[in-house]
Amino acid sequence: MGFPHAIHAREEAVLSRHFGDADALSLDGWKKRGGYKALEMALAMEPAAIVNVLKDSGLRGRGGAGFPTGLKWSFMKPGDGKPHYLCCNADESEPGTFKDREIMRWTPHALVEGCAIGSYAIGAETCYIYIRGEFSEPLRAVGNALREAYDAGVLGSNAMGTGKTVNIYIHKGAGAYICGEETALMNSIEGRRGNPRIKPPFPAVAGLFGQPTTINNVETLAAVPQILVNGAEWYKKFCLSNPKSTGTKLFSVCGNIAKPGNYEVVLGFPFKEFLYDMCGGPLPGRKFKAIVPGGASVPIQTPEEAEATLMDYEGFVAQGSMLGSGGVIVFDDTQCMVKLIGRFARFFAHESCAQCTQCREGTAWVTKILERIEAGGGTMQDLDTLLELSENMTGKTICVLSDSCAAPIVSGIKKFRHEFEAHITGKQCPLRTAAA
Ligand SMILES: Cc1cc2nc3c(=O)[nH]c(=O)nc-3n(C[C@H](O)[C@H](O)[C@H](O)COP(=O)(O)O)c2cc1C
Repeated sequence: MGFPHAIHAREEAVLSRHFGDADALSLDGWKKRGGYKALEMALAMEPAAIVNVLKDSGLRGRGGAGFPTGLKWSFMKPGDGKPHYLCCNADESEPGTFKDREIMRWTPHALVEGCAIGSYAIGAETCYIYIRGEFSEPLRAVGNALREAYDAGVLGSNAMGTGKTVNIYIHKGAGAYICGEETALMNSIEGRRGNPRIKPPFPAVAGLFGQPTTINNVETLAAVPQILVNGAEWYKKFCLSNPKSTGTKLFSVCGNIAKPGNYEVVLGFPFKEFLYDMCGGPLPGRKFKAIVPGGASVPIQTPEEAEATLMDYEGFVAQGSMLGSGGVIVFDDTQCMVKLIGRFARFFAHESCAQCTQCREGTAWVTKILERIEAGGGTMQDLDTLLELSENMTGKTICVLSDSCAAPIVSGIKKFRHEFEAHITGKQCPLRTAAA
């Protein structure tokens, strides 16, 4: 048991400080580490004042889109006479991403506290934590934390003796990637098929059970208690580049790299230093070929682009990709790009909810074509067809699953076209030819 690769850049860690510390799992242990002070503070504040602290802190959603958290909370109108809901998105199914499960495994009370503060701030008496069903350990840890919090009167109809109601429930998902999309998640909690809904109306107007709802990622909510206790100015100091990207972020690193694992860094940290110094660089005798920095949904970077990147929302965009969920997947020179991009496409085709034609048909067709090219049966015309299909899959559907499928294909053909062409002209994978 342990957390071998938690390395904290420059400043002290905000989210992973207690990873690997089994004593922090219990309510008593968490309180000894300063836990629930933020909730006590919050329950004595006006909800709008909490929202303002979050706005000032600059915290942005860690689930993928980077939407400002305080602004999102401010869309919930107090006193509208309707029940409000908070949903915590703990579905974490983006390939290459494995940070939320670590927050839940090691610091479940940080999440419970963040959910309680968020609920109170948006006028919600009920919060659902939607946890991916396969996450047996995180489910157990969060379940235990909730039980302890209810038994101690931290939660319930008299939360911390204040007379205020904060209820938090776990809802287990059933292993569908699409249920991580916010409105599909709400349908799933309601017992419906997990299909994304057309927006507008946005969740803040009509979300869960048709009522005003806010949805946030695990990492976003787990950061909230520390921001409240230490203040917005304290949080804003975690910034190494663009002032629009504040705080620390967990990055999950996997693939062909010396030290895979979860790392917490201050936003704006140089990606080159991160990949080579913190994560140990390529395996002995190998070179990096491609880096997917934000989960399978984002454009692929060349090593040159990655090395020029500053790790924040703006920095990844400036170098041809996106921060996304922070799931860094590294490929070295032993890997076939056509095969890897085909694998990504197969994943999206399998996970498409099939509501939108462009997604249902597009993800299936690009998978077939990519696998045909990989097997040596492709034509040059296939590359144009892939790009045309990808264009039809981008910006045209209810949710962005099909855009996500297209992003690695378009960037892959643009940046690694020679590999696609070598498969077509050589009628097999060039790596196989070289090995023969
Ligand atoms: C297909 C799809 C899957 C998604 N999966 C997740 C997920 O597993 N976890 C998550 O937090 N957000 C996921 N998102 C993003 C959510 O829709 C939403 O933006 C996020 O939960 C908002 O929280 P945040 O503002 O705290 O980032 C997904 C989006 C799409 C389109």
